[in-house]
Amino acid sequence: MIGVLVSGEGTNLQALVDAGLPIAAVASNRDDAPALARVSIPTRAFELGDYDDRAARDEAMAEWLRAQGVDLVVLAGYMHLLTPAFLERFPAAIVNVHPSLLPSFPGAHAVEEQIAAGVTESGATVHLVDEGIDSGPILAQERVPVLEGDTPATLHARIKRVEHELLPKVVRDLCAR
Ligand code: GRF
Repeated sequence: MIGVLVSGEGTNLQALVDAGLPIAAVASNRDDAPALARVSIPTRAFELGDYDDRAARDEAMAEWLRAQGVDLVVLAGYMHLLTPAFLERFPAAIVNVHPSLLPSFPGAHAVEEQIAAGVTESGATVHLVDEGIDSGPILAQERVPVLEGDTPATLHARIKRVEHELLPKVVRDLCAR
């Protein structure tokens, strides 16, 4: 069963739900994440302020996901780095979707940085998660053009359209392993 971690809007979560994938639980680091309101499956927020430190928060989140039967974790716009306390609970079973052609432009401001750099090509990457920032082995990538006059918002919207196809496809393949 799949557990999805979100921090924001949740359009990728929506794409996973719409693809009919077996999602058991949705967790977030923010209890005001709009993504949490999208689904009628169990959701829970794990705010850092409620725990001693990140490791304790991540341990509680991993424990809750395991209790929901989760064995594959999908980061769909989850904006905190995961500590080893979490990673060790799901070895080689955490994937992330990122709005650039990794290894170029890792990090939280990838779309703005690509516009600022004047690149002519961007894309979406789905990769396995390790302790680094958007640094794990790449599972799939798809390119999109950067067009004249693009803003971070218009480029991000184009990338997300690709993410919404690519992420469910990769997750479906992983479920079939
Ligand atoms: C996506 O562009 C994803 O690549 C990045 O965060 C964004 C999340 O969007 N990691 P949403 O919350 O799924 O709409």
